[in-house]
Amino acid sequence: MLSPHRLAKYLLVAFFAILAIGIWERSGLPQGLAHFTATTGNSTEVQVPGTPTAEPHAGTSLSEGDEDDATDGPFEGSVSADSENDPNSEALPSSNLQPSAPSTEASFPRFAKITATFGERDPPYEDAISSHNLHNELHGYPHFILREQMLRGLWSKHAYILTIIGNELAKPAHERLAWLMWHDRDTVLMNPQIPLDIFVPPSPAFDHIHLLVTNDRNGLNNGVFFCRVSAASFKFFASALSIREYEPEIQLKYTEQSGMEEVIKRENWNSAVAYVPQRWFNGFPPTEKSLKSGKASAARPGSLLIHFASNRDGRRPERMAHWGEIAKNRSAEWDKPVEQTGYLQEIAEYWERLENGDSQESIIEDIEDRVWD
Ligand SMILES: *[C@@H]1O[C@H](CO)[C@@H](O)[C@H](O)[C@H]1NC(C)=O
Ligand SMILES: *[C@@H]1O[C@H](CO)[C@@H](O)[C@H](O)[C@H]1NC(C)=O
Repeated sequence: MLSPHRLAKYLLVAFFAILAIGIWERSGLPQGLAHFTATTGNSTEVQVPGTPTAEPHAGTSLSEGDEDDATDGPFEGSVSADSENDPNSEALPSSNLQPSAPSTEASFPRFAKITATFGERDPPYEDAISSHNLHNELHGYPHFILREQMLRGLWSKHAYILTIIGNELAKPAHERLAWLMWHDRDTVLMNPQIPLDIFVPPSPAFDHIHLLVTNDRNGLNNGVFFCRVSAASFKFFASALSIREYEPEIQLKYTEQSGMEEVIKRENWNSAVAYVPQRWFNGFPPTEKSLKSGKASAARPGSLLIHFASNRDGRRPERMAHWGEIAKNRSAEWDKPVEQTGYLQEIAEYWERLENGDSQESIIEDIEDRVWD
């Protein structure tokens, strides 16, 4: 039994204990706030200018085959991340870490590239990815390279894009990337003098466009495309990724590529997408004949890159090596200033006509088979 006297004593002790905790917590809070305001008062001091966030993905890798890879499928479609691996090619991870020169003081890179390659190391594809390095260095593009399989099949593409966009959206707006260019690993960067920003839609007239994509003769080819870093893009890829769960009855002939195409068909997304001429950034390897005739799907000398989508004859690695050598040689025929290509004129024409009410199809049809001098 406690005497009233003792009880009072305990209560007094308890009171002081509570008071002490209260004081301690109060003094903690303002301190934290003071620290917070001190570091955010000058935002430029808090930021490390131009540092991309690719590090977590840079050096890791794991050998895991990609069983339902569609690389040798009968279509000249996307086809990407199959088997391969290994971070120890010098160029890739380091270009991840250092976006380099042009992104200087207090500016954050606005454009970045993103690709995937995992499984056993496959030199032709490592070389193809490395062909992007000079371009990245010249323009300060972070290069995000997925080296782990995140999801089955080719769906890692969507998962990784969601990861990167989500990571950007978690930053203050002025620090975010503005656009991402996805490229499959079977692309060779041919003309490092072509900046990515020439392709994106003029603002504010086309601020509602969040995706720039191209068709080949089988429909959407998502081997190379641009997406805006935006909540809309995030939701787009989340939708594409969810189709199998929500509408399993839909046949996705080309898996994740068809997933994107399904979402694009929907009314609310349709207006957020611009189809542009395939060869702007997703052209296939040209032949002498196709160069003369202006084949719509073939890259032109001076084009940004070549996408080696089709592999029906199994000679893709050989072709990639051949064009990779031309790129490395920096032959003047391919490696030239953007002003000496047909890009600026065609791109200006495209958006101008679109703004004036022409259909994307008709503009593409007019532009795509032009021959560049
Ligand atoms: C904040 O930035 C201004 C201008 O750059 C500078 O003059 C000032 O000293 C900085 N303040 C602090 C607290 O670093
Ligand atoms: C690249 O340059 C080397 C050395 O000049 C030359 O031997 C080779 O034929 C060139 N390759 C191509 C594909 O043009």
